[in-house]
Amino acid sequence: MNEISKVTEAPAKAVKTPTLPDAQKVTQVTHWTDRLFSFRVTRPASLRFRSGEFVMIGLMQTDEKTGKEKPLLRAYSIASPSWDDELEFYSIKVQDGPLTSRLQHIQPGDEIILRPKPVGTLVHDALLPGKRIWFFATGTGFAPFASLLRDPQTYTDYDEVIITHTCREVGELAYGRDLIDSIRSDEMLEELIGEGFHEKLRYYPTTTREDSPKMGRITDLMRSGEVFADLGVAPLAPETDRAMVCGNLAFNLEIKEMLESYGLREGANSDPKEYVVEKAFLD
Ligand code: A2P
Repeated sequence: MNEISKVTEAPAKAVKTPTLPDAQKVTQVTHWTDRLFSFRVTRPASLRFRSGEFVMIGLMQTDEKTGKEKPLLRAYSIASPSWDDELEFYSIKVQDGPLTSRLQHIQPGDEIILRPKPVGTLVHDALLPGKRIWFFATGTGFAPFASLLRDPQTYTDYDEVIITHTCREVGELAYGRDLIDSIRSDEMLEELIGEGFHEKLRYYPTTTREDSPKMGRITDLMRSGEVFADLGVAPLAPETDRAMVCGNLAFNLEIKEMLESYGLREGANSDPKEYVVEKAFLD
């Protein structure tokens, strides 16, 4: 596991990407583990988004057939809150992944392409009012919740906010844990959201392949009732609970079935209900 390394200084030799109409400048890169990194970029002045939405971002690549440069884009959840001056993204590094094999080498001063058209289903508008909201994440699926957890609406709409994050190893929880710690100690956020707002926030990290205080997949911990006992809450019910899910495909499918079994129904922007799901980006 690598040490967390944060780079904010512009390097002497930045990798050149052709400047495009949708180019944004990288301002900070943090490597959390050898599989995970986050980065911040400048925000287009016109970009408005709802917490939980994603945008297409990427780099130029050479088309093998024509030899011409063309954009290689992927959907990335915006991890920063909508009131932030910059945009933040949280990404996996896949050594032979078409985009992240290159994206993981970006440095402050480099440019990436960012299409300023935010979309997505993990938005408050897609849920009916409720008492408690659950954010279920695995791996880089934490990203949209990093935004939603800093959105004042999350705390005005709900009495209780529970974020669960399941990763293989302890080091993969670091990005989320840091974010939760920063939320709990951020006075500016408290001013923005309201005094004591973080008392509504419950954080439930679990690991599956390395020892940690709470081991196991969140789905298994729900099935056994352990998570509800640990948090002192009743199992999910459509009258009180709302859920947003973001993780790998197998996880999404499994938890979707479980949420349905609790009586929650899948909502959409145009048809709000009790839960929503989105796939975390895996290159
Ligand atoms: P596991 O280690 O048991 O596979 P990944 O890094 O592969 O995206 O996985 C992130 C986390 O999601 C891992 O802890 C993994 O557990 C867990 N996971 C994978 N599939 C499921 C599933 N169907 N239900 C619950 N958790 C899952």
